[in-house]
Amino acid sequence: MNSKEFVEELHAANQKLLDRLRSTEELSSGPEAGMSIRNLLKIAMKNEIEATELAALWMPTTETIDIKMAWARQVGDEAKHYRLIQDRLRQLGEPIDHFNPLAKGYTALFKFLSMLHGTVDRIAAAQFTREAIAVVKNEQFIALCEAKGDPETARLYREIIQPDERFHFELGRNLLEKYATTDELQTSARMTARQTLELAEELQGLIFQETGVHHAPGC
Ligand SMILES: [Fe+2]
Ligand SMILES: [Fe+2]
Repeated sequence: MNSKEFVEELHAANQKLLDRLRSTEELSSGPEAGMSIRNLLKIAMKNEIEATELAALWMPTTETIDIKMAWARQVGDEAKHYRLIQDRLRQLGEPIDHFNPLAKGYTALFKFLSMLHGTVDRIAAAQFTREAIAVVKNEQFIALCEAKGDPETARLYREIIQPDERFHFELGRNLLEKYATTDELQTSARMTARQTLELAEELQGLIFQETGVHHAPGC
């Protein structure tokens, strides 16, 4: 199929799995009442640092200039998100200066993504799929912040972070339309996107076990 048709098909397949992630997450369900926004923001910092590092890792191993620069843009944005979340935590009174989000190591999702070699696989996984997950998770997180009476954190996500994550998703869409042009590349990208979603779902399950909440923001 041509690359436009492929991207539409992949998007539809992703949305089906994303609906599954979404449907388990009613705000009123789960024992998240005691879970503070601050703890979720600390999980967000880990997502942001992993997203920054992945894009940085891939920059020197990508020869195609527009893709190289897409990773560069993402490095800057995700690092900016990290700092903004850190600032917000400080405002909320969290002692954050010596907090290391990677102290317990990297997530399985990061380890999987960092092993990807194909440029089209990387775009399908890290931008087109991971950023689509982020958009869903952040919408839920914004609603949670508002429900818990933290409009300032909700505003940070709605006005600054979420538009960037949408932009990363759109970058992924445009690059896939341009470069996912063969059956071989498309088959591989489909599998990679699926694995990304499965690992994200697993990660969400682990966070839920640890914190009792499904609403950790994405990246
Ligand atoms: Fe992002
Ligand atoms: Fe981000």
